[in-house]
Amino acid sequence: MLRFVRQPIKKIVDGTRLIAKGEYSTKIAVDQEDELGQLATAIEKMGKTIEGKRKKLNKQIDEYQNLFEIVPCIITVQDRDYKLMRYNREFAEKFNPNPGDYCYHAYKGRKEKCEICPVEKTFEDGLTHFSEETGVNKDGEPTHWIVSTSPIKNDEGEIVAAMEMSVDITPRKLLEEKLDESEKKYFAIFDNIPNPVFVLDVNTLEILDCNESVQVVYGYTKDEIIKKSFLELFADKEKGKYASILRTSTVMNQAKHINKTGEHLFVNIRISPSEYPGRKVLLVTTSDITQRLETEQQLIQASKMATLGEMATGVAHELNQPLTVIKTAGSYLMKKVSKHETIDDDILFTMAEEIDSQVDRAVKIINHMREFGHKSDITLEQIQINVVLQKAFEILGQQLKTRGIEVVWDLEPDLPMILADSSRLEQVVINLLLNARDALDEKWQSTEYSKGMKKIELNTRSEDKTVVVTISDTGSGIPEAYLDKIFEPFFTTKDVGLGTGLGLSISYGIIQECEGSIQAVPNVNGGTSFIIKFPISKEQ
Ligand SMILES: Nc1ncnc2c1ncn2[C@@H]1O[C@H](COP(=O)(O)OP(=O)(O)O)[C@@H](O)[C@H]1O
Ligand SMILES: [Mg+2]
Repeated sequence: MLRFVRQPIKKIVDGTRLIAKGEYSTKIAVDQEDELGQLATAIEKMGKTIEGKRKKLNKQIDEYQNLFEIVPCIITVQDRDYKLMRYNREFAEKFNPNPGDYCYHAYKGRKEKCEICPVEKTFEDGLTHFSEETGVNKDGEPTHWIVSTSPIKNDEGEIVAAMEMSVDITPRKLLEEKLDESEKKYFAIFDNIPNPVFVLDVNTLEILDCNESVQVVYGYTKDEIIKKSFLELFADKEKGKYASILRTSTVMNQAKHINKTGEHLFVNIRISPSEYPGRKVLLVTTSDITQRLETEQQLIQASKMATLGEMATGVAHELNQPLTVIKTAGSYLMKKVSKHETIDDDILFTMAEEIDSQVDRAVKIINHMREFGHKSDITLEQIQINVVLQKAFEILGQQLKTRGIEVVWDLEPDLPMILADSSRLEQVVINLLLNARDALDEKWQSTEYSKGMKKIELNTRSEDKTVVVTISDTGSGIPEAYLDKIFEPFFTTKDVGLGTGLGLSISYGIIQECEGSIQAVPNVNGGTSFIIKFPISKEQ
């Protein structure tokens, strides 16, 4: 009994105990073929099987623990008092909690629960809640995170804890703040640009946005002008023209605008296509040049008056011619009448005709002078520069002739049109002709000259995209050192009363206004050539 029953049973009982303790591979040495021997072997086998299962389970536990620890977000589990029951590594590293710490203390350093708490809500209704929170990390730096919570229930379905999962959004938050700040900065710059700036819809030209300067210049508040069409700022009859220019060009000079009170102002406009959230827009800036234009206008007028003065003697010559003809006819008639002689109808008619045409000529000259002296607003239009040259010559021709100055014409017929103000260009040509006259006088006053030596040449030609006008003289020429000074206002080499020094500087401005250029170069005859270039008008 002892050997075959009691001892093996004891061995089996001991072995079973060891297995229960966890020593799964315990050997139970019952070396018998009977039932007890088989039982011992079965128990040994069972121990091994349990060991295998146990290992598998442990591995799984480890895996889940590991997952819990390494998920790339912060996880805590809290009881109903917000005490931290468990947390993962990420949380420990970021917030360095004390054992038994409370959530609000660990996250935010608070002494009591936060007023708005998603964990509290989850305990109340058993649902998931979200919130965005701000606190300090263990280094004392402000930290932002997005929080979501969910309930943990026991077997009876009671909520015993809450799990809180947070994702750190500090970098994103900082970026947002930076973006906000830079947006504010650019907004401030946009608003404080001293020139009005408009943002227009590319298709409708509706004003989508504008800066504060718009009110200063135009009188409209932002609310009044936004949603209106930019074309509202133009005069009715010009709207059509500007609508197409706005869409196709980048620069518009001296456009006429109307402010809120209906007054006109002149502006230079710059247009650049741009992107505005989700749509194509035009960025338009305008600069008010009304005052500058007025000052320029006054200066031009002053110089015109000076030019008129310089022309006066010439015009006297010019008028002398018709007066002499009329006088001669008058004397002839008086002589005939006083001698009681009859005059042929033929002769009488011819004389009357001559007197009539000479009076017409004098009137024409006087009108031309008057017209020239008139103040006029600038109007750019399609003109033929040849016509301007001829018109200017009309009032100066006679005086050039009496001074023995030969004028040589070399005009290209059918010259393309240019966009300019013809009365102002006439002023330019008159200035240049008067300068040439003075230079010729200076050179030849004490020198013998023969026919053709005192000469002014007027040449026009078209070149690719430009019209070129050259006015050359055989006068005294310009010393090299003066070449870049002559266009300065008040630069003159002439005696007081003879020159104002305004002619070329005004001419320069006028030519620039129509996007042309002027340049003085010495020529082969020792004189000077002025070369003026204008872009050919695109609207040909
Ligand atoms: N055709 C020319 N030949 C020589 N010098 C010239 C000529 N045109 C202009 N100048 C020089 O340029 C100066 C400036 O000309 P301008 O501006 O017309 O003023 P102003 O004729 O009143 O002196 C003149 O004083 C003269 O010295
Ligand atoms: Mg002059």
